[in-house]
Amino acid sequence: MRHFLGLADLSSDEVWQILNLAVDLKKEWLDGGNRPLLQGKTLALLFQKPSLRTRVSFEMGMFHLGGQAIYLSPNEVQLGKRESVADVARVLSRYVDGIMARVFAHSDIEQLAAHSHVPVINGLSDYNHPCQVLADLLTILEKKGRLEGLRLAYVGDGNNVAVSLLFGGTKLGMEVALATPPGYEITEDVENLATAFAEESGGFVDLTYEPLEAVAGADVIYTDTWTSMGQEEETRKRLKLFPPYQVNERLLAASGKDDVIVMHCLPAHRGQEITDEVADGPHSVLFDQAENRMHAQKAVLALLLGGQ
Ligand code: CP
Ligand code: NVA
Repeated sequence: MRHFLGLADLSSDEVWQILNLAVDLKKEWLDGGNRPLLQGKTLALLFQKPSLRTRVSFEMGMFHLGGQAIYLSPNEVQLGKRESVADVARVLSRYVDGIMARVFAHSDIEQLAAHSHVPVINGLSDYNHPCQVLADLLTILEKKGRLEGLRLAYVGDGNNVAVSLLFGGTKLGMEVALATPPGYEITEDVENLATAFAEESGGFVDLTYEPLEAVAGADVIYTDTWTSMGQEEETRKRLKLFPPYQVNERLLAASGKDDVIVMHCLPAHRGQEITDEVADGPHSVLFDQAENRMHAQKAVLALLLGGQ
């Protein structure tokens, strides 16, 4: 049995296995059919933070595959407060076939996995957001027909989404450029890991403070909120610092590519990290990404819980 805590733990072949299965499952769903791969199986959805996409895409994914999901709200379980993380894992393992968790501290999801007898899936931690990036890779693949050799420029906070994009992109031979404000870079550990993945795959890591530099030649421009969940007390400070990192028409034009696509994991703060014009414009693939959460996660569920 294996857990899915991050893309760094997977080989490139394993990431491709997930993407290929996601493509097949999406095709079947579009044709009006679903394979009952998880008949009788139950997934617990354990949240320490709010969610729209993660909750609904996992619930629908389980429904399509013939299983069911149980939503557990932040107030209900109070992970680590009402009960230790280890005990929550031990108890849930006696009832369900898998646990999807969204947590603050990444060490909490590692703890859950360490004490769970069923697979644990990371639905976002303060460190990474691997399910999001599987959906993003699927979306890029659909739009561009390939991943290897493409340049993805992430502009904004060096956060959980940036970390997973770096890992997923470099595993699959992409050139990943990151433009963050000084003080909001990814850590050296993340840089070293991504560089090692890129060396193996023929990808590349390009770190800068200059948004225009990052997006030059980009096939994909990606951004995310300037203030992640749990950082709310920093909002005012960040709102002052981040405006040069806004994804707007000017930044898009700086890619020099007519077919550049724009991505955002959502929720978007329109007028801050992305303008309405871009989010609703012809280059935007924001809602394809959101839909693909469901397809990518169905593949993860089928592989982890259904032994596909
Ligand atoms: N992108 C994403 O994870 O969205 P939610 O926070 O709504 O789940
Ligand atoms: N970086 C964001 C992603 C939300 C899906 C956050 O952690 O709040």
